[in-house]
Amino acid sequence: MRIAHIVWGIFQIGVILKLSYNEAHEFKWTNLVCESLNKSWVVIHNCRLRAVNRNKTTLILNGTILHPANDILAKVQLLKKENGYKPWLYSVNIDVCRFMKKPYNPVAILMFKMFKEFTNINHACPFIGPQIVNGAYLNLKFLPNLLPSGDYQVATNWYFDKRPQFQTKVYFTFKEDL
Ligand SMILES: *[C@@H]1O[C@H](CO)[C@@H](O)[C@H](O)[C@H]1NC(C)=O
Ligand SMILES: *[C@@H]1O[C@H](CO)[C@@H](O)[C@H](O)[C@H]1NC(C)=O
Ligand SMILES: *[C@@H]1O[C@H](CO)[C@@H](O)[C@H](O)[C@H]1NC(C)=O
Repeated sequence: MRIAHIVWGIFQIGVILKLSYNEAHEFKWTNLVCESLNKSWVVIHNCRLRAVNRNKTTLILNGTILHPANDILAKVQLLKKENGYKPWLYSVNIDVCRFMKKPYNPVAILMFKMFKEFTNINHACPFIGPQIVNGAYLNLKFLPNLLPSGDYQVATNWYFDKRPQFQTKVYFTFKEDL
């Protein structure tokens, strides 16, 4: 009986520690940079973060694709800051038109889940006209297991018809045990 109580007590402490541990995380966007490499195809009107509160920033991106894009490749590279940003762990090439028909690649699926409800970029090809992301934020439910604390960048080069058209760089910070 006593041992059962002690075990139960330890379990409860574990639950409390785990909860406060989660609350002590910082996981948010810190910067966003977008650049069109071909302004006769892609125009960027707005590319910035909005600070909602100390713990939360949301992503705002407004661009226009001037001609239909039917062949889209996203080259995604994760970088981690260690004396400047260095490529770290993940680099994936996503065939966006194939992905929109049937999502594949776990990293791309995780990233898409973060943006899906905040964007009109969630349909099959072709892509043309306004491309909006409004309000996407980082949430602990999207945190991959075992991400070390640090400052990261996700650099994406977007290709249409196999030629680079624009770049996005989104920076985020993850810190545990504040
Ligand atoms: C922000 O984080 C701090 C500490 O991590 C927490 O005490 C505070 O309640 C959080 N605020 C909001 C609005 O989530
Ligand atoms: C730039 O965009 C125009 C308009 O869509 C296209 O015709 C041209 O091939 C593109 N240039 C490159 C280098 O992709
Ligand atoms: C995006 O930018 C264009 C051009 O500035 C503007 O007309 C449009 O209202 C903007 N859309 C959103 C959703 O902010």
